[in-house]
Amino acid sequence: MAIRKILIHPDDRLREISKPVSFPLSDAVKQIIEDMAETMYDAPGVGLAAPQIGVSLQIAVTDTLWRSDEVRHDPDKPGADRDLKVWLNPEFLWKSDEIETWEEGCLSVPETYANVTRPAAVRLRWFDMEGKQHEQDFTAFEAVALQHEFDHLLGKLFIDYLSPLKRKMITKKMKKLYK
Ligand code: NI
Repeated sequence: MAIRKILIHPDDRLREISKPVSFPLSDAVKQIIEDMAETMYDAPGVGLAAPQIGVSLQIAVTDTLWRSDEVRHDPDKPGADRDLKVWLNPEFLWKSDEIETWEEGCLSVPETYANVTRPAAVRLRWFDMEGKQHEQDFTAFEAVALQHEFDHLLGKLFIDYLSPLKRKMITKKMKKLYK
């Protein structure tokens, strides 16, 4: 296992459209998934998509329990209250007309938070590591987290939802801090 370097905006690799993974998963892809989980927990973050470590594949990992307000665990005890989920080739089948606004952040846009409005509920189809297909509805924070992560697979960042001026300011800040 290895902690990977997280790409910081602006980086062209964050703008690539990811390709689906094929089953059965190769050892290389399994290693990428393990590394992504380790990198997410190390950051720490609630989600990480493959393009954020420079891999253009439709893979995302999340753990919305890990940092949720409802279940605050002891940060000195890593491993407690974890709920790692791996999402492969995800596709939204439906998004609600009802919308909700949440404050979002992203490991590729550090120290930056902004309100983003998205559909409040979604129906998702995805594959697990064994290649089994799943379908489920999600609401609230999980719906937000999944939409944010899967935007990454389309080369999209949460700052794309902000005004051009605000986005420009954030990009300028990132260049100054991380280049
Ligand atoms: Ni993100």
